[in-house]
Amino acid sequence: MISIEEVIKEYKDDKKDSLDIDKLEHKYLSRKGYIAELFKGIKDIIPEKKSAYGQKLNELKQDIEEYVAKNKTQEIESNIEIYPINRLDMQSRLGGLSPISRLIFKIQDIFAGLGFSVAVGPELESEKYNFDMLNIPESHPARDVWDTIWVQNPAGIKSLLRTHTSPVQIHYMENNKPPIRIIAPGKVYRYEATDSTHETVFHQVEGLCLDDKASISTFKGVINYFFKELFQQDVKIRLRPSYFPFTEPSFEIDIWLEDKWLEIAGAGMVNRKVLENGGITDPNIQGFAFGFGVERLAMILYGIDDIRLIHSADIRFASQLGKIQL
Ligand code: DAH
Repeated sequence: MISIEEVIKEYKDDKKDSLDIDKLEHKYLSRKGYIAELFKGIKDIIPEKKSAYGQKLNELKQDIEEYVAKNKTQEIESNIEIYPINRLDMQSRLGGLSPISRLIFKIQDIFAGLGFSVAVGPELESEKYNFDMLNIPESHPARDVWDTIWVQNPAGIKSLLRTHTSPVQIHYMENNKPPIRIIAPGKVYRYEATDSTHETVFHQVEGLCLDDKASISTFKGVINYFFKELFQQDVKIRLRPSYFPFTEPSFEIDIWLEDKWLEIAGAGMVNRKVLENGGITDPNIQGFAFGFGVERLAMILYGIDDIRLIHSADIRFASQLGKIQL
């Protein structure tokens, strides 16, 4: 076994030879280093000399630790280059609202002109509001259309991240009496693979209009006005028969743009069952609802070919869209 004297001598030599500081640290201070070895040897020292030996060993250890610490700081300092302040490449740029937020504000403005106010609902929803109250019972095949992100809820309520903004219709009906004219913009969540036209999280705008005369032609008028204001030109619109459990009849709204029809929204006359679920029993109350995706609209408006760019937080993308005037 190596003696303390031998270690001290070797340590002095290593310092003289400027042994690399990490190597030195390892050689003396690591778990299997000399100091650890010497400590292990204490048990073999005769009792009268133990205390003196221990003290000497501790002093040596401390000395090496200080030497290592001092040399490491020097090493760090020599690696720092001090830049004069005028060499720092700092650019200050003001941030801005995302194109989606700006588009939602624009949509709110247009609908405000028609007397619609803005309603909000929770993103963490119950199964009851997201599906059942909208006439989509558990066994209904239409549930498969909305790939759902379920959330564990300790209270035992079946919870999910809302798959659409339609549940806001029910919340609003429960708390307000007709006439009702609202839009409900917000985030929705789908459990599906992303590609250039699908994202897991995106935004929808829901619309609901209920009174004693709101009809399909009222709806057509509203939707015509909306697209005309948004695109700042007349837009040809087509209603195609479709199916949603919460509307009857239901349709798909297509707009004619650059020589083709683009599917842009789902809509319909609110199903009587849904009105009743929302607490509206007056048979004279009727109306329409609609829902569309904001990112999809943004892609059409701004010529974006991949939905994933929109929330990518890529400054090159954001700064291009920042220039667009709505
Ligand atoms: N909630 C539907 C969806 O996410 C869109 C929708 C269709 C909303 C028809 C409506 C409606 O209000 O009447 O796909």
